[in-house]
Amino acid sequence: MREPVIAGNWKMYKTIGQAVQFAEKLKAAAIPGGCRVVICPPFTALPAVSGVLRGTPIGLGAQNMHHREEGAFTGEVSPLMLKDAGCRYVILGHSERRQYFGETDRDVNLKVAAALDHQITPIVCVGELLEEREAGRTGEVVARQVLGCLNGLNAGQAERLIIAYEPVWAIGTGRTASAGDAQQVNRLIRDLLAENFGREVAQQVPILYGGSVKPGNAGELTAQPDIDGALVGGASLDPDSFIAIIRSAVSCKQ
Ligand code: PGA
Repeated sequence: MREPVIAGNWKMYKTIGQAVQFAEKLKAAAIPGGCRVVICPPFTALPAVSGVLRGTPIGLGAQNMHHREEGAFTGEVSPLMLKDAGCRYVILGHSERRQYFGETDRDVNLKVAAALDHQITPIVCVGELLEEREAGRTGEVVARQVLGCLNGLNAGQAERLIIAYEPVWAIGTGRTASAGDAQQVNRLIRDLLAENFGREVAQQVPILYGGSVKPGNAGELTAQPDIDGALVGGASLDPDSFIAIIRSAVSCKQ
């Protein structure tokens, strides 16, 4: 039985003070058991939020990472630094990284391997553009991304992943994939994992949906058999809406 995972991607929002306030509110909330909750603040807030979350089951993640441990890479942050700041998760290959910073599946692949080497759980994002969906190419695009990002991993590594299907046209737009369409793509991802890493691994890896998830639609999406939770952007910035999404995802899986 896969535990639902609800991860909040704060993107480039919140000062350190605002992030700490959010973490304190989340820590004080009655979060139901039987789920994994992760928040991914901007780099600057990671150490302070880690301090607030210490001793709680709430996980801390970063939104990006360089694949090398250290070096002359101005402006980059390494896996060692993320561990040092208290992170157990990292979002990799988010469509905004791909779109605005030119990240390729090859880049994501290097980062995924590096995160696993450092015992950081990667949340690997894949998803098609609107024109790709309209051209009927969703399956092909998502399969290429999954295989590219996971290239060279063995089954023992693959079983430690989290994957998030995020159709690019649904991110920050208020347009959500229908629960049925999202289920279909998540199922395709699980089948690919089974083909490449075996059925057991495929059954174990949480595959999330992301793209305009809100308290009002989280239940229907996460009720699907292959949608194991949500990667939430905008609606994760407000603690009440984030907590409502967690509750509705958990109650749908029970
Ligand atoms: P959104 O973002 O929930 O604001 O659509 C999702 C994401 O970018 O992970």
